[in-house]
Amino acid sequence: MTTDDSENVVRFENVGLRYGLGPEVLQDVTFSLPAGSFHFLVGDSGAGKSSLLKLIYLALKPSRGLISLFGRDIATTPRRELPAMRRRVGVVFQEFRLLNHLSAFDNVALPLRVAGVRKSDIQKHVVELLSWVGLKDHLDARPPTLSGGQQQRVSIARAVISRPKLLLADEPTGNVDDRMAMRLLHLFEELNKLGTTVIIATHNSHLVEKMGFPKMHLDEGWLEIVGADTDRASVPPASEPGPGGGLLDDGDDDGTRPDLEKLF
Ligand SMILES: Nc1ncnc2c1ncn2[C@@H]1O[C@H](COP(=O)(O)OP(=O)(O)OP(=O)(O)O)[C@@H](O)[C@H]1O
Ligand SMILES: [Mg+2]
Repeated sequence: MTTDDSENVVRFENVGLRYGLGPEVLQDVTFSLPAGSFHFLVGDSGAGKSSLLKLIYLALKPSRGLISLFGRDIATTPRRELPAMRRRVGVVFQEFRLLNHLSAFDNVALPLRVAGVRKSDIQKHVVELLSWVGLKDHLDARPPTLSGGQQQRVSIARAVISRPKLLLADEPTGNVDDRMAMRLLHLFEELNKLGTTVIIATHNSHLVEKMGFPKMHLDEGWLEIVGADTDRASVPPASEPGPGGGLLDDGDDDGTRPDLEKLF
């Protein structure tokens, strides 16, 4: 661990990734994300967004370069310590990865059970969070009986319920309408205000423009960060209608912002 890394939740230095003998899908990727920052990860389909997130949540090893997470070089961290690091990362998977034999409630409760949270607290927090994402009437439903957008919201609730240090969301609004997308974005934003570092991969350019956070832009495996100098990264500029002409214009005072003190 170096002192330079103590403020950076994620650091990549000249990271390359190839699958098998194929070409490099990420090339010389170098960036640092300070604690408490909020970034969108954008780029065309196939640009490498999910691959980059997989490297961060330790599902893949880089072919070359250095990755550090929470100030620790992954390559030199003992294997037995990786699961504990991984538990500090909340992930919303592009393909949800819910446990189909468990109810929506139990999927979301799982991280809290693993963390040893009291049963009565689990009941309260899970019900409140699932209600907030509009699934109050589906607590007992198993994922295969839910729509794509409903499963996506269960997956988001599971990722945020334990207030992770780092939240990675891979296209978390791909299956919901614009109003729900904005509501979910507000959830991530409020989580960020409580100190969680957030990275959201998305194709939704309206959301990105509306929220005004810096962008990590991937283009054929090359990464560039845009807008980080002008923003404090954790505080978006005053809300203005984006170029979408107010497509996502939810007012800020109509209950679309969660009271996280209540939810968690
Ligand atoms: N398991 C894999 N084996 C081989 N190649 C892969 C694998 N996963 C991804 N790739 C390749 O890596 C590249 C980047 O894929 P990735 O899924 O990271 O893109 P993405 O930006 O997330 O795309 P999308 O926006 O469609 O989700 C693509 O060329 C893809 O074909
Ligand atoms: Mg992807």
